[in-house]
Amino acid sequence: MTRPDDALSTLRVALGERSYPIHIGPGLLGDPRWLTPHLAGRQVMVVTNETVAPLYLSRLRQGLGDGLEVRELVLPDGEATKTLASVERIWDALLEAGFNRRCTLVALGGGVIGDMVGFAAACYQRGVAFVQVPTTLLSQVDSSVGGKTGVNHPRGKNMIGAFWQPRAVLIDTETLTTLPSRELSAGLAEVIKYGLIRDAGFLGWLEAHMAELRGLEAAALTRAIERSCSLKAEIVAEDETEQGVRALLNLGHTFGHAIETHQGYGRWLHGEAVGTGMLMAAELSQRLGWLDGADVARTRAILAAADLPLAAPADMTPEDFLAIMRLDKKNLDDRLRLILLTRLGEACVHDRTPPECLTSLLEAFPRR
Ligand code: NAD
Ligand code: GLY
Repeated sequence: MTRPDDALSTLRVALGERSYPIHIGPGLLGDPRWLTPHLAGRQVMVVTNETVAPLYLSRLRQGLGDGLEVRELVLPDGEATKTLASVERIWDALLEAGFNRRCTLVALGGGVIGDMVGFAAACYQRGVAFVQVPTTLLSQVDSSVGGKTGVNHPRGKNMIGAFWQPRAVLIDTETLTTLPSRELSAGLAEVIKYGLIRDAGFLGWLEAHMAELRGLEAAALTRAIERSCSLKAEIVAEDETEQGVRALLNLGHTFGHAIETHQGYGRWLHGEAVGTGMLMAAELSQRLGWLDGADVARTRAILAAADLPLAAPADMTPEDFLAIMRLDKKNLDDRLRLILLTRLGEACVHDRTPPECLTSLLEAFPRR
């Protein structure tokens, strides 16, 4: 597919010699100019899933051009497959193909595929190249950028993993045209997150353009993706391994991961759980006196406009939440560390929430 070059934008994740580009534009999946410069050698393994393969695998193969040794691995779909067993299938396929240290893995799909392929690349022969080709809004604005890779454990989300940066992130915005609307909403949760934690102006822009975003209007989607990726690139460049500011990207995630873990992976979409978790974080911030009622009402309204759930699962008690939240990776020295909002557009890491304040939020928060 051809495309005018001015429809493409490129951002950069600045990490010294491991810096990489994020190319964003319509139709770049099928164009060899974007993928081939980032291959480490001739051996390429494209990993995708059974939903994405029929939609985009042949277009991606076109984008690889000729003269390469290309293998494909199509995994089952779903968050429940984000396991070490699936990663082993990737390693098995690489070994069976006789792939060496100069091979490149290409992750074609949403965040589940991207996280697993990145982790497989981090460990295969102590680390090989990989390229992210994210095809969901959530993976385009968040998971494909920044090098967090890994799998779930039955006791907790993303508990096994590594930091391993891709060689490039290729975001073909046209792939969003086939995305189910529930998945689009889940991605919008992470987009809204950037506004809430770091950019009040962007939050206002999202409020004004939510209908266009939900209607898959290309210009609005591209702008939302660019702003989200640019904020994420800035944060990752500042704090690659989450010693400080990167933790703010976890707004809503401590509550959200508890929902996903309790409900069984896949029943709630990750973005849905994060959306509800962000409302819980906003309400807790209000209880601490940082946000006022109007701020929380705005947060609830934008999540509602994105068609995200505003209530926690009916069968989750405060004790259920607390038991899982205690295992969160951000916690240190037995202290629960939560990302809260000091105002709309500004967040902080807080480890002094009075336990009774948290418990009363967990008791009062609506269930459905
Ligand atoms: P996903 O990968 O499960 O994709 C959602 C669904 O959409 C799947 O059924 C998938 O097959 C399908 N799909 C993908 N692209 C499509 C397309 N273009 N058209 C139609 N269907 C398509 O979920 P996700 O929301 O992309 O990612 C969630 C995962 O990302 C979670 O595991 C979460 O923990 C992880 N995550 C990681 C990071 C990180 O920094 N690494 C950040 C956020 C989330
Ligand atoms: N999604 C959180 C992070 O990348 O740090």
